[in-house]
Amino acid sequence: MNEMAPGTVAEATPVNESTNCARAPIGLLAELTHRCPLQCPYCSNPVELERANTELSTEDWQNVMRQAAELGVLQIHLSGGEPTARRDLEDIVATAAEVGLYTNLITAGVLLTKERLQKLRDLGLDHVQLSIQDVDPENANRIAAYKGGAEKKHEVAKWVRELDMPLTINAPLHRQNIDSLPRIIDYAVEVGAGRLEVAHIQYYAWALKNRAALMPTREAFMKTAQIVDEAKERLKGILVIDFVVPDYYAKYPKPCMGGWGRGIMNVTPSGRVLPCHAAESLPGLEFDNVRDRPLADIWLQGQAFQKFRGTDWMKEPCRSCPRKEIDFGGCRCQAFALTGDPANTDPACSLSPLHKEWAEVATQESHVEPPEFIYRRMGKPTTEPTRG
Ligand SMILES: C[S@@+](CC[C@H](N)C(=O)[O-])C[C@H]1O[C@@H](n2cnc3c(N)ncnc32)[C@H](O)[C@@H]1O
Ligand code: SF4
Ligand code: SF4
Repeated sequence: MNEMAPGTVAEATPVNESTNCARAPIGLLAELTHRCPLQCPYCSNPVELERANTELSTEDWQNVMRQAAELGVLQIHLSGGEPTARRDLEDIVATAAEVGLYTNLITAGVLLTKERLQKLRDLGLDHVQLSIQDVDPENANRIAAYKGGAEKKHEVAKWVRELDMPLTINAPLHRQNIDSLPRIIDYAVEVGAGRLEVAHIQYYAWALKNRAALMPTREAFMKTAQIVDEAKERLKGILVIDFVVPDYYAKYPKPCMGGWGRGIMNVTPSGRVLPCHAAESLPGLEFDNVRDRPLADIWLQGQAFQKFRGTDWMKEPCRSCPRKEIDFGGCRCQAFALTGDPANTDPACSLSPLHKEWAEVATQESHVEPPEFIYRRMGKPTTEPTRG
C-alpha cells in the first residue's frame, strides 16, 4: 500500500485483465457524509457515524468519480447520511457527469430548494430517489423526528417532475406505517414517480436497535405482498414497483449487494472502501482508503473484497446448495450479527439451522406492543427525538 498525504486520492490504475475478478462494479455508492437532519429509527447507517472533520474533500470525491469511470462503473449513487448536506454536491455531480457516469441522488429531500435541484440537473444529475416515511404527515414527521419533513418532501417530489427529471420514491415499510401502503402507492402515482421502492426494513446497524418497534406481523407482511401484486398489475406502464420482502419472513435470503464484491462498491464519507455499507461490523476485514490506494486495486485485490468474493469461502449448507450462485449465501453482516460467524449461512435462509429460532423471535416481537423508538443522537441513544 503506498502512503499518501491526507486529503489526496491515489491515482487510478487501469484494470488488469489477468486478475481474478471477472468484471468491474456496475455501481458505486458514494456516502458523501453521515450528517443528516433526520433521525429515522430504521436507519441502516452504522451505529458509529463518521464525523464531519474526517470527510473526503471535494477534490477527493472528484478523483473517486474519475477513477470509478476508468474502472468501468456505470452508475454513481450519491447518498449518505444526507448527501445534500454537502455544499460541494454540485462540483461532485458535475465531475461525475463529465466522466460519463449516470448519477442518482438518494435523498431525504428536506434540505433541497428548487433552484438547487435545477442547478444539479443542469450540471448533469440524471435521477432523484426521494425517501418518505409515510403519507400521513404527522406519522411521517414523528418517525423521522423532523417537523415539516413530509410536507417538504411532497414539494420536492413535485419539483423533480416539474424539472422533467425521473423520480423514484423509496418507502421503507415497517409496522408503524404498513397500513399506509395503498396510499403510498397512490402518492407515488400522484407525484409522477416512474418507480416506487417498497422496501421492508433491513435490520442492520441502527435499525437493529429498533427491531421490536419496527417488525410487522407475518399476516401484515403477507397483505403487503398482495397489495403490491395487485398494484403492479393495475399500474403497468404507469409505475414500476420494486418490492423488498423482510428477511425474517423469507424462504431464501436476498443476494446481498448482488453478491460480495460482484457488482457494487461503497465509499464511506472518510474514503474507506467497503464491499457493503455494513461491512465494517465484521471482524478480520481490512478496509483500504481511497486516499491511500487506487480504487481499481482495492476492487480487484483488496483483502475485504477478496474475503467473501465468489463461493470458495462457503460452509455447508451453502457449499453444496444449487442456489449458491443465485443468492451467494445471503448477507455476511446478518450472518455474523446473528450467528457470530460471517461465513455461516444467513439465518434468513430456511435451510439455515438457526432459521426457525430466528423467525420465531421476529414473530414474537411483532405480536407484542411495540416499544418506543430509540432515536439516534450523536453518542447518546434516546427515546426522545432531539427535534420535531
Ligand atoms: C441511508 S439512506 C441515505 C439517503 C437519505 N438520507 C435518505 O434517507 O433518502 C439511503 C436509502 O436507504 C433507505 N433505508 C434506510 N435505512 C433502511 C433500512 N434499514 N432498510 C431499508 N432501507 C433503508 C432510505 O429510505 C434511503 O432510501
Ligand atoms: S435513512 Fe433517515 S436518518 Fe438515515 S440517512 Fe436517510 S434520512 Fe437520515
Ligand atoms: S443454503 Fe445458502 S446458498 Fe442455499 S439457499 Fe440458503 S443461503 Fe442460499
